[in-house]
Amino acid sequence: MQLHITCIPGDGIGPEIVTEAKKVLDKVASVYGHEMIYKDILMGGASIDVHGIPLTDEAIADAKSADAVLMGSIGGDTTTSPWYQLPPEKRPEAGLLKIRKALNLFANLRPAILYEELAEACPLRKDISEAGFDMMIMRELTGGLYFGERRTVEENGIRKAIDTLTYDENEIRRIAIKGFDIAMKRRKKVTSVDKANVLDSSRLWRKVVEEVAKDYPEVTLEHMLVDNCAMQLVKDPAQFDVILTENMFGDILSDEASMVTGSIGMLASASLNDSKFGLYEPSHGSAPDIAGKDIANPIATVLSAAMMLRYSFDLDREADAIEAAVKSVLKKNYRTGDIMSEGCTKVGCKEMGDLLAAEIV
Ligand code: IPM
Ligand code: MG
Repeated sequence: MQLHITCIPGDGIGPEIVTEAKKVLDKVASVYGHEMIYKDILMGGASIDVHGIPLTDEAIADAKSADAVLMGSIGGDTTTSPWYQLPPEKRPEAGLLKIRKALNLFANLRPAILYEELAEACPLRKDISEAGFDMMIMRELTGGLYFGERRTVEENGIRKAIDTLTYDENEIRRIAIKGFDIAMKRRKKVTSVDKANVLDSSRLWRKVVEEVAKDYPEVTLEHMLVDNCAMQLVKDPAQFDVILTENMFGDILSDEASMVTGSIGMLASASLNDSKFGLYEPSHGSAPDIAGKDIANPIATVLSAAMMLRYSFDLDREADAIEAAVKSVLKKNYRTGDIMSEGCTKVGCKEMGDLLAAEIV
């Protein structure tokens, strides 16, 4: 099959990790008889340097014309990079928000898994980490505070900033349906996270999620307040299967969950719309401090490519092969610097890509 993939190498370590993900995809293509057709586009700082803006309309059109988008990472050092001297709407992150909205990528899936091989890196107490965990954070991605009306004004000499958190029931329903669908393929539990003791948007969220739950009698639904959820993620992460939540809560909780795995360099993500189209990217950032040194961990991007094969192309066998390759390389004790532990062999970004590709046979 022909796979039309738009790639966004982006900034920092982005270009290096995307190169390794392509290496692995190319191996998959040759072993399983597919054809990968890539087109690179600029986004973030890389686009600012060439076009003065973080995402052009042409780049959006290129992304739309593909079957899926594979992204590295965008952004630079916020204190030293000249990109952050620009007005907010021209900074690298604005490109990411723009592409999410333009492609209607409302469902963000962020798995947080404790890898057996990397259990030592987990910062939690041993009696907690021993239980293991494997959760999927489903974050609403195109609504809420991120996309509400905002402005900064001055009233009687006092500066005032306003952000608004809006959700309508349709926005809540479509992400809830995705959340329950995914739960059906997992351990059939949804924890819907909100702040219903304070916010109207959360009270509506809870109502709509309960309505959707009626169509999924096999799924256990529980509600949890976001502050409690932040606690439970470190107290007892094994309790979670699917965490379903709005944009801002999901941003914060997914960082917490990934940190708790101890291996953020391993975590993939998918952002999906109503069709099979998706944007796939590692959960970590652009790590400008280690860019260009061939020491970044490409595994999260490689696993994002596996999610792409699974969700956008229905190529489950091929996705399984990539995931098995990752496990096998870890079992053979190869590690990049971020997940290094005693007795293992330290490898660079390129070598990790070679090792992963070699496992696909
Ligand atoms: C993320 C990032 C983005 C977000 C930033 C870069 C705008 O933190 O993908 O989680 O807040 O959504
Ligand atoms: Mg974030």
